[in-house]
Amino acid sequence: MKVFITGGCGQVGSHVAELLLDRGDEIMVIDNFDTGRREHLPDQHDKLTIVEGSISDKPLIDQLIGDFRPDVLIHTAASYKDPDNWYDDNLTNCVGGANLVQAAKEFGVGRFIYFQTALCYGTNPTESPVTLNHPKNPGNSSYSISKTAAEDYLELSGIDFVTFRLANVVGPRNVSGPLPIFYSRLKAGKKCFVTEARRDFVFVGDLAANVIKATDGTGHGAYHFSSGTDIAIIELYDAVVRALGINDYPEPDVHPLGEDDAASILLDPSRTFADFGNIEFTPLDTFVRLAVDYYNEHGTLGEYTHLKLKDGKET
Ligand SMILES: NC(=O)c1ccc[n+]([C@@H]2O[C@H](COP(=O)([O-])OP(=O)(O)OC[C@H]3O[C@@H](n4cnc5c(N)ncnc54)[C@H](O)[C@@H]3O)[C@@H](O)[C@H]2O)c1
Repeated sequence: MKVFITGGCGQVGSHVAELLLDRGDEIMVIDNFDTGRREHLPDQHDKLTIVEGSISDKPLIDQLIGDFRPDVLIHTAASYKDPDNWYDDNLTNCVGGANLVQAAKEFGVGRFIYFQTALCYGTNPTESPVTLNHPKNPGNSSYSISKTAAEDYLELSGIDFVTFRLANVVGPRNVSGPLPIFYSRLKAGKKCFVTEARRDFVFVGDLAANVIKATDGTGHGAYHFSSGTDIAIIELYDAVVRALGINDYPEPDVHPLGEDDAASILLDPSRTFADFGNIEFTPLDTFVRLAVDYYNEHGTLGEYTHLKLKDGKET
């Protein structure tokens, strides 16, 4: 099978690419190395082509997809580094997303797999767990607005697609959210801040295994990739402390929830379990240890967040 992966040197894209290469598929990756790293994929592999470029470059996308003629397009590339950089978010998430959807349609790509943010439901969803029927309400961030526009184009296109809506995907090569922030601050002996929020963390390897099923034809439309249980942010913090082997427990400051903070963002995975079957979720301590091993070797890259920090605090 031929698979075109955008953002293939990022966290999700590289884990999916590895699984596809292991079973002999032919892969073409496009990445601009904004948050991904070239070394996340093998240097030399006769089934792997890596193109340095941007998905916002329509002639390039048309040329690559027109020449390669993939069976499946897996679109993981996203811009989110700077919440004030609406231009880059639009170029990558919105224009880039639309370029890919139109190229997939024009060149007869059989399936399109997308990764949507749970922020598309707003920062204060009206139900918990959030079902797939919850209205989209992305006006909380440039990231969420632009990611949702691309998902809307996909829905408009008539292409056979799967969109995995995700809360927090973590593991090795994770550069956004609280995990790399806790790691960096704890390593530097700095105090961490947590809120009383609960969040839905899943291991990138578990997601990648399901993306392979989707690549092979399982699923149509929107799915929540979620274990169905949330954990307190402080449990994630404690797992990082354990993985770092810190004996003298560094007490974090616990802040009450801000006005816009959801107490919990928990996604209802029932449709995913019905269509993809039972999923063995990797335990928290295991995936935090894998992430910490990765940071020890490679560093954290940037510790980005998708939303603006309030008072310098991170959940
Ligand atoms: N990680 C999460 O918790 C999470 C949660 C919700 C949704 N998602 C979505 O899942 C997808 C994968 O996330 P991830 O954790 O792997 O992020 P990541 O930052 O590790 O990977 C994104 C990749 O896209 C590349 N990229 C960015 N702009 C590009 C452009 N214009 N052209 C080509 N490549 C470009 C980056 O260099 C990087 O390699 C994203 O679409 C993201 O919006 C992730």
